[in-house]
Amino acid sequence: MHYEVVLPAAGSGKRMGAGKNKLFLQLQNEPILIHTLKVFETDPNCTGIWLAVRPDERNFIRTLLKEHNITKVSGMPDGGAERQHSVHACIKAMNHVSIVLVHDAARPFITHTIIEQLVNVAHENGAAIAGVRAKDTMKKVVQGVVKETIERDSLWMVQTPQAFRFDLLAEAEDVAEKIGFLGTDEAMLVERLGHEVFIVESTYENVKMTTQEDLVFGEAIIRQRQQ
Ligand code: CTP
Ligand code: MG
Repeated sequence: MHYEVVLPAAGSGKRMGAGKNKLFLQLQNEPILIHTLKVFETDPNCTGIWLAVRPDERNFIRTLLKEHNITKVSGMPDGGAERQHSVHACIKAMNHVSIVLVHDAARPFITHTIIEQLVNVAHENGAAIAGVRAKDTMKKVVQGVVKETIERDSLWMVQTPQAFRFDLLAEAEDVAEKIGFLGTDEAMLVERLGHEVFIVESTYENVKMTTQEDLVFGEAIIRQRQQ
């Protein structure tokens, strides 16, 4: 089943502390952004990529796309102040498609298999998000004091991609815009419409490159995949 993907790439990577957009940092000699783009470039079911970019980085990104033969980018809208604004800009710029995926450009290790599962579940049920089970014991802490140990079986750590029927996400985004609430992820907006969101079990490899340690993990994942 075909889909188009929205890749928010307009952040500044503050927690990475590299002094520039972390997506331009290299893993095994290629920018993180290119690793992520290649997953979708090489997926025959992906028919379009919408990349939210910072205006001052647009030309540099264009050069990178040419250099690495990325041909599926359909549009590069200006990103916004928050990730959710960047996603919103892409949804506004897109034409109607049946299924849309939203995926952080900073998660380069997503696989075609998980993408396919998400697309299928979203096609059937409207909304599907990638997630993994919480591994550690989870506690609620208020001002440094444990208030509660939370039963772990029902706790999931949610990732991207998040996949939706386009109409459902567009409606959720419209409502969010009207009430001035963009949520923390796209699924939250759909949940607020009262629509069920399904989880597809993903892998711990689908890590977001957020802080310096993640780069070490990222290099190790690539080496292991090359063996
Ligand atoms: N993003 C975006 N527009 C923003 C902020 C973030 O498109 N205004 C993108 C990032 O480029 C990244 C994804 O959203 O691909 C996930 O965000 P995050 O990991 O938080 O990246 P940054 O915001 O760049 O990092 P930080 O929060 O540490 O500054
Ligand atoms: Mg951020």
